[in-house]
Amino acid sequence: MTQGGTAVRSKFITFEGIDGAGKSTHIGFVADFLAARGKTVVCSREPGGTPLGEKLRDLLLHEKMHLETEALLMFASRREHLAQVIEPALARGDWVLSDRFTDASFAYQSGGRGLDRAKLEALEHWVHPDLQPDLTLLFDVPLAVARERLDATRTLDKFEREQADFFEKCRAEYLRRAAQFPERVVVVDSTRTIAEIQVRLAEVLEKLL
Ligand code: ADP
Ligand code: TYD
Repeated sequence: MTQGGTAVRSKFITFEGIDGAGKSTHIGFVADFLAARGKTVVCSREPGGTPLGEKLRDLLLHEKMHLETEALLMFASRREHLAQVIEPALARGDWVLSDRFTDASFAYQSGGRGLDRAKLEALEHWVHPDLQPDLTLLFDVPLAVARERLDATRTLDKFEREQADFFEKCRAEYLRRAAQFPERVVVVDSTRTIAEIQVRLAEVLEKLL
């Protein structure tokens, strides 16, 4: 893809936040926004995104397992997702939107469950040493608001049935990652209305185009 003679690389955008923060609600808006500007967009999710990854997702969301098994399976799903979906799409010049990526492993397996961060850093270095999202939209919302939204809509999976303290720790780790990587993580105040958030997302995306 070129613009005024300068090559414009397609971008990898990830959507993060605790369960019920609004990721799924806004991914469609972002996809439509980019498509309207002529981009070819691939939407995907983790854990999952490939046939094997979806099988791993089913295990991860419904089976009890050792904390390290959980972390390893998250990265196994991610390895497959990178090989089958993310890397080929970026190589074609498509934009990739992923509902969660490695920040979620830090938030849930380290923040929420207490796994040593260094172990996740080692897995991250193994699985995607040279790739980071160009933009991470972190939908941030107090736990009580997320919980109220979730209770209104769906049956809860293994993670969503965790106690408040677990999600407070996930949220804190997400915000720590946002402070650590300000060049790629944009914190979106998800207590605002969906329309207000869309205005904010449009501003952020315009800068990326
Ligand atoms: P996530 O994908 O982050 O788990 P969802 O996008 O599924 O969250 O949102 C959870 C619920 O909250 C959905 O019913 C959605 O319609 C609602 N919701 C999301 N964002 C907002 C918002 N800004 N204001 C009010 N309700 C919202
Ligand atoms: P998600 O797709 O957001 O769930 P839903 O479709 O119900 O909105 O994510 C599934 C769960 O997996 C979520 O609770 C967070 C968890 N998760 C991790 O614990 N670690 C990870 O690395 C990823 C990608 C997700």
